[in-house]
Amino acid sequence: MTVPELVPAPIRLTRTDGGWSLPERLSVAVDPALSAARPLLVDLLGVRLGRELVPVAAAGASDIALRHTEELAPEHYRLRVDGSVLIESSGPDGARHALRTLQQIVGPAAFRALPIRDAPVVLPGVVVEDGPRFGHRGVLLDVARHFMPKDGVLRFIDLISAHKLNVLHLHLTDDQGWRIQIRAYPRLTEVGAWRAESQIGSSRSSRYDATPHGGFYTQDDLREIVAFARTRGVTVVPEIDMPGHSQAAMVAYPELAALPEQAATWPVWTRWGLNPHVLGTSDRVLDFYRTVLDEVLDLFDSPLICLGGDEVPVDEWTADPDSVRRAEELGMTGVEELLPWFIGRLADHLRTRGRRATAWDEVGGSRLPTDVAINSWRGYRGGIDALRDGHDVVVCPEHEVYLDHRAAPGLDEPAPVGTVHTLEDVYRFEPVTDQVAEAAAEPGAGTVLGAQAQLWSEQLDSPRRVDYAAFPRLAAFAEVVWSPREARDWPGFDRRLRGAHLDRLDAAGVEYRPLAGPHPWQRRPDVPGWPLRFDELGRLVHAEDGAG
Ligand code: ACM
Repeated sequence: MTVPELVPAPIRLTRTDGGWSLPERLSVAVDPALSAARPLLVDLLGVRLGRELVPVAAAGASDIALRHTEELAPEHYRLRVDGSVLIESSGPDGARHALRTLQQIVGPAAFRALPIRDAPVVLPGVVVEDGPRFGHRGVLLDVARHFMPKDGVLRFIDLISAHKLNVLHLHLTDDQGWRIQIRAYPRLTEVGAWRAESQIGSSRSSRYDATPHGGFYTQDDLREIVAFARTRGVTVVPEIDMPGHSQAAMVAYPELAALPEQAATWPVWTRWGLNPHVLGTSDRVLDFYRTVLDEVLDLFDSPLICLGGDEVPVDEWTADPDSVRRAEELGMTGVEELLPWFIGRLADHLRTRGRRATAWDEVGGSRLPTDVAINSWRGYRGGIDALRDGHDVVVCPEHEVYLDHRAAPGLDEPAPVGTVHTLEDVYRFEPVTDQVAEAAAEPGAGTVLGAQAQLWSEQLDSPRRVDYAAFPRLAAFAEVVWSPREARDWPGFDRRLRGAHLDRLDAAGVEYRPLAGPHPWQRRPDVPGWPLRFDELGRLVHAEDGAG
């Protein structure tokens, strides 16, 4: 029997003699400290592999044991297979990672919903000792530009957890739709969750689809998503984007807008791109969002709550006498300082409720409370500055890990936008560049929490399109954020992917991008893209012909 080909690669894997044919009936001992890992154990062994599971006392002999040990760091695990399975960890997260490793060792059959034949499940003898490089291993899913029905979100959570990713950043609100039910303000979803049609292709396109689009999650849907994610070791970080990217909210409640009379005439936005409209900066607007956040905190258990703060043009604040007065009263040099101030006041509110704000890197500056974590998306620069200012940082640069951007040059990629991030590019992404490391080493600097891949959904209008954009690049990203930096090995990853991991994705029903390029039915020749590339001086240019 060969050595299992794991993705992401573990710290250490040792093949031992022998193997074990998994009996039909398994005695299972779970230490009470690890009982939160039981739902995943039952899903893997009881449902997917169809074994009868017989609970036995944690102290006794058993076929499958989850044993608690204080010896191992958070999320680390030890897995031994040799005539039984022994999993050791200091908490349920480590035990879940061990179960995910066991799932890969079993093979593709363990990625199907049910057993499909009576073939014996034979496990090789192994010892795996493993743990993550970063604590924050995230993926952003934009359910605002295109709504993803709840079952798609649950499936996506299970898939990212199988790759040992542990944060789902759920982008719940934007100009094009508001997707979270808020009891205090029902129009946010009655009005804000629906738009008349959608732009076809990039923000440059002049075509629209004449098809209404929308949807939202009820509070019970979100409770279910959060509870399911917990069983998979995934924390759902909700994002309520403000004070830009808020047209859907302003259409529902025009009084929120910096220019309310104009807002009363807007539709929920039907196009993509940078929106000029912004929220007002009055106490009434802040109070509205405090109430929204109180309901968000009721639903989500994440310590981090994202307040957005990206792409906020200030022209409407300049045109709004109240915002100008506010800036003057606060001794600001210009209305642009209202951005970190606005995010800071809501960060204060989160702090009083025991949570912490995170925001995109535009909000940095002296008016931003230091405990706000920063998502460095406009390259590494915002993250480096934020680290020096004492903020913790999640590294998520657009030109490295925006997975909605095309996976190859040329004319074949569906709706090609952004710069090319091939599978190998994503595999070679390094969150902690020398400059990031230098900034993080300065006295008083913040910490690099980890990294995050983004799936913006302007061009990803269905779970099938999300599958195509996400996989297998997300498997490469998972290895970047999980495996030791010195273990990075592109030929090795490529071999494991081709030899084992794509078979797992196939069994799970993932419509990933084939390594040779899209299947004919995955192309979108009718959809105009907006491919970008760098010239020889490193300047970003648009490749009009789509040839990249
Ligand atoms: C972003 O891509 N606007 C965060």
